Amino acid sequence: MEKLLIKGPTHLKGEVTISGAKNATVAILPATLLINGTCVLENVPNISDVKVSCKILSELGAKITWLDNNTLSIDTTNITTSNAPLDLTSKFRASYYLIGSMLGRKRAIQVGMPGGCNLGPRPIDQHIKGFELLGAKVDVSQGKITAKADNLVGTSIYMDIVSVGATINVMLASVLAEGTTTIDNAAKEPHIVDVANFLNTMGADIRGAGTDMIKINGVKELKGNATYSIVPDQIEAGTFMLAAVASQGDILIKNCITKHLESLTAKIQEMGAEVHDYGDSIRVTCNRKPSRANIKTLPYPGFPTDLQPQMGVALSIANGTSTINESIWESRFQYTAELNKMGAKISVQGKSAFFEGVDKLYGAPVYSSDLRAGAALIIAGIIAEGETEIYNLDHIDRGYEKIEEKFKNLGANIQRVSN
Ligand code: EPU
Repeated sequence: MEKLLIKGPTHLKGEVTISGAKNATVAILPATLLINGTCVLENVPNISDVKVSCKILSELGAKITWLDNNTLSIDTTNITTSNAPLDLTSKFRASYYLIGSMLGRKRAIQVGMPGGCNLGPRPIDQHIKGFELLGAKVDVSQGKITAKADNLVGTSIYMDIVSVGATINVMLASVLAEGTTTIDNAAKEPHIVDVANFLNTMGADIRGAGTDMIKINGVKELKGNATYSIVPDQIEAGTFMLAAVASQGDILIKNCITKHLESLTAKIQEMGAEVHDYGDSIRVTCNRKPSRANIKTLPYPGFPTDLQPQMGVALSIANGTSTINESIWESRFQYTAELNKMGAKISVQGKSAFFEGVDKLYGAPVYSSDLRAGAALIIAGIIAEGETEIYNLDHIDRGYEKIEEKFKNLGANIQRVSN
């Protein structure tokens, strides 16, 4: 078993380059199944969720070649089966995008129930509602999801809940449907726009992505034969911005789209950080202990739930008492118990957590419960006095490329060791 060993405290200082967005990539990879041809993807994050996605695509018949560490060539001309490997699809959340893509391409798919981070109940009723309205029959039983359609016909779909996954999945299923589909109350996250841009580059006709109404005019075929570069990961960028705040450091974050980070930027300025916005890079400097703040997580463009744990670390050592209200996931405060082991004073009541800022954190053995909790614990280890050991690295490796190398370059004393 591997663990991360971190010796702190360190004020992080230097430059970091952000990788391509995990949550865009894990949707764009299945989206390639809609193409009758080849495409090249650039700025692909080299993370374990991507490797599992590639394995699944290969088992479905795609030919995948890594052209370099972050560039993939994918040939989906011959898709030979509609049965995705159940063990692999159960490993991560985004395997549910195979349903939309394969319904589009083959009008049939069988996948295992999606796995992924344990953040509380993660229903997919809105995905299923969308597929059924398009004309598919969906069966969920014995740990499997089976979807089939004789034909998919465009229609109006109103999402009862703003859902990233359901918006993307229904978009995928509609690209090759007959006629026009509209998705109302759609999610607006940057990766939704990225998936739409990718599909349009390959020949789809999608308008309005990034607003709450997306219109998809069905086309006969996606030919591909094009290159697409994945959008930078705004959550990774935000993770380093919060690392600068929590460590009272000075970090220049390169290859990001600062527009995607507005809610976080406003909040850390309120907490006393200095932010210089250069459009495709951002510098965050914090010369003092951050001030208290109140946070409520919301769908984009609100404060992202995927930065909530990292913000929790900054608030754990802030001046004064802060509150976080988590409105997306039921179980996203598991990291607070680990921070409390490190000397934080955090109490959780239902969907709210109260952070009584302490002077400092102290190193301890801690366990990452999910991907973003893992990132938060790394920041906590960096600002804590003494040695922190972080376990359950699988979660972190699912979504962050070269994480310890990036923090090491900023001055952190961090190393991965095998137990
Ligand atoms: N929901 C439903 N029914 C549905 C779909 C969602 O009730 O059919 C509820 C969920 O239970 C949740 C809310 O709607 O309370 C929002 O869920 P959403 O569908 O937006 O989340 P997701 O697509 O499953 C993606 C990201 C998550 C991120 C959320 C919210 C991927 C692969 N995952 O999940 O990312 O937290 O959107 O922004 O894109 C992460 O990267 O660490 C991560 C967990």
